[in-house]
Amino acid sequence: MKKYVISGGKPLNGEVSLSGGKNAVVGIIPAAVLVKGVCVIENVPAINDVADLVDIMKKMGADVRYLDEKTLRIDSTNVVSYVADYDAVRKLRASYYLIGALLGRFGHARVGLPGGCDFVERPIDYHIKGFEALGAIVDIKHGIVVADAEKLTGTSMNLDFPSVGATVNIMLAAVLAEGLTVIENAGKEPHIVDIANFLNAMGAQIKGAGTDVIKIKGVAELHGGHYEIIPDQIEAGTFMAAAAAAGGRVILRNVIPKHLESISAKIEESGAKVEEFDDYLIVSRDADSPIKNLNIKTLPYPGFPTDMQSQMAALLSRAGGTSIITETIFSHRFKYVDELRRMGAKMTVDGNICVIEGVDKLTGASVRACDLRTGVTLVIAALIAEGITEISDVRYIERGYENIVDKLRSLGADIKVVNDDTPAVTETKIS
Ligand code: UD1
Repeated sequence: MKKYVISGGKPLNGEVSLSGGKNAVVGIIPAAVLVKGVCVIENVPAINDVADLVDIMKKMGADVRYLDEKTLRIDSTNVVSYVADYDAVRKLRASYYLIGALLGRFGHARVGLPGGCDFVERPIDYHIKGFEALGAIVDIKHGIVVADAEKLTGTSMNLDFPSVGATVNIMLAAVLAEGLTVIENAGKEPHIVDIANFLNAMGAQIKGAGTDVIKIKGVAELHGGHYEIIPDQIEAGTFMAAAAAAGGRVILRNVIPKHLESISAKIEESGAKVEEFDDYLIVSRDADSPIKNLNIKTLPYPGFPTDMQSQMAALLSRAGGTSIITETIFSHRFKYVDELRRMGAKMTVDGNICVIEGVDKLTGASVRACDLRTGVTLVIAALIAEGITEISDVRYIERGYENIVDKLRSLGADIKVVNDDTPAVTETKIS
């Protein structure tokens, strides 16, 4: 098992090119199940979630190959099974998209309940309600979602909450259904739009993605085609927070600044400068200038993303004053707090609120990445801490961040990967 060893205190300077969106690609690969033909997907990030999905797709009979390191060719013509491998499915959260895709293609799906980040309980009742509205009968037996439909028929539905997963999953089940499906109170996140754009490029008729009403006119079949995945909004935000926290000047290439507006606003409020260009951003902060305290409330897009609140907490742990984070999407998403406290951060959690009292310094410690965003938050904290931090369980980080170690190193960070059997950090080493 690998761990990261980071020696903190170095500013970040230089240029980094960001990868294709994790939350887009994990929807687009299952969406390819709906296509009888060859889908060529570009800007695919090399992350563990993609490797796991490729594995699941191959086991179902899809022909999946890399044309180059970022281009995936998927031909699902010969997929005959609507059963997804149980153990493989449990490795990642987004395997739930296979339910909608298999149901749409075959009228049947057998998919284990998803795994992935276990930062809070993550139900899929809205997804199931949507499938049922389309005419499916859905049950959960022995940990497996069992969905069957004689026929899927378009209908109107109003989501109880603009859930990302439910919006995408219902869209997947509806593209080949008969008639018109209308999803009201739909999620508007950029990756929902990207998955809709992918499906439209393959012949689907989806309108309104990115607004709160999505209309899907069922078509008889989808055809093959080419598609390029959008840049990763959260990876970009993470590097923005890292640059603001460590100080320095970082040029972030391959981003869509529009998708980052709520994040840019908070990074600027913290005292860093954000300059926006067509497809790149520059984030800078004089390492000696103070980090300002601020408040954040997470909301569905275009509000501040829940996937960025922990990285901001690492930044705000060093702010001059008290900051408050209110988490409204996943109310107990504060697993990072205990780990950051080990590094000297002063944080308390009350319900869905985290209060952060800025401290003068963080100190290196041995900490654990208990989920994807907690893991990367610890990386940011380690970059600004005095001494050496060892982060274990980094497999969670590598589920969603492509080449994070190389990217940070290219910006001047002192970060290396070692095997877990290397002796742990001792106090003398830290000092
Ligand atoms: C997706 C993202 C995740 C992000 C989250 C919120 C992917 C693969 N993952 O997760 O990175 O943190 O959006 O932006 O895109 N809920 C229910 N029942 C459901 C579905 C959701 O109660 O059937 C609740 C959840 O518990 C949560 C809220 O709705 O409180 C939002 O969840 P949702 O938007 O569905 O998140 P995910 O799709 O799981």
